[in-house]
Amino acid sequence: MVDSPKYIIYNGGRFEKTGKIIIIFFCIFKEMRVLVRIYGVKIPKSPGVNYHEALNRLSEERRNRTLRFVRKDDRIRSVIAEALVRTLFLRDHQVDNESLRFTVNSYGKPSLAAYPDYHYNLSHSGDYVLCAVDSRPSGIDVEEIKPIDLTIADRFFSGAENRQIREIPKDRRIGYFYQLWTAKESYIKFRGNGLSMPLNSFSIRIDDDHIELSEQDGCLVQEPDCYFKAFEISPQYKATLCSESPNHPGTIEWMDCLDLFKKFVEVSGGNYATR
Ligand SMILES: CC(C)(COP(=O)(O)OP(=O)(O)OC[C@H]1O[C@@H](n2cnc3c(N)ncnc32)[C@H](O)[C@@H]1OP(=O)(O)O)[C@@H](O)C(=O)NCCC(=O)NCCS
Repeated sequence: MVDSPKYIIYNGGRFEKTGKIIIIFFCIFKEMRVLVRIYGVKIPKSPGVNYHEALNRLSEERRNRTLRFVRKDDRIRSVIAEALVRTLFLRDHQVDNESLRFTVNSYGKPSLAAYPDYHYNLSHSGDYVLCAVDSRPSGIDVEEIKPIDLTIADRFFSGAENRQIREIPKDRRIGYFYQLWTAKESYIKFRGNGLSMPLNSFSIRIDDDHIELSEQDGCLVQEPDCYFKAFEISPQYKATLCSESPNHPGTIEWMDCLDLFKKFVEVSGGNYATR
């Protein structure tokens, strides 16, 4: 009789240990399952893509916004952006294109109204449109490298970031600046706070390929709640992803613009008409 409580405790210990192992495996499996995917479209130089066919299948808000753009480049990026989001969603979900509704948070971060667990983020610049699709919040930014007065960093970046920029040899400084910029933007977009979050309220540190949030509102960051990854898309561009998931993809999944539009028209129940 005296021994029986020990036996129970022993069994309980074994159960506790097995339970812990199962939970650890479950967590690892969950982490492995979460994989952000990044899709990219390079805007073709030559005409031949029927943007109007796609434009008519977008939200009214997007159509109006797109038509208000003065520059053709902006209109094209805007059409591709929403067509990409819709195509990626529709090809995996049995819903009608017309039923998809977008909503925005108080800072303008868009999402699909009826699908709060489907996270995406868009970025477009120059010849590229990128879209990150994630089961958790993420932010992506692509920027075309253009000549820029680097003193802008004094105004927008943190003291630590400005020191990093000055340590970089002059010939690599502009590339580094844009890398930092896209990392900062990706973080703001991950948070979804827009420009209500001052760019100098946090610091990003870049060491070779490793990018991390080093400081927020003047405090050192101990445990990261987000992970960064830079992507090489062209020497003239910088792109960074920021996600809650550490399982970043190694590459971007590129889609041909014409194929995207054909697919979009197909998944939205029509026939793509060539121009
Ligand atoms: C709107 C903002 C979120 C990103 O702007 P951006 O870098 O000019 O544009 P991007 O192409 O990367 O991103 C635009 C997309 O972000 C998404 N977006 C808009 N507001 C967002 C927010 N609050 N959070 C996350 N994503 C947002 C939208 O999908 C938008 O694309 P769409 O309008 O075609 O749907 C905002 O951070 C901004 O205006 N940044 C500019 C800041 C700046 O001037 N920095 C200078 C550094 S020196």
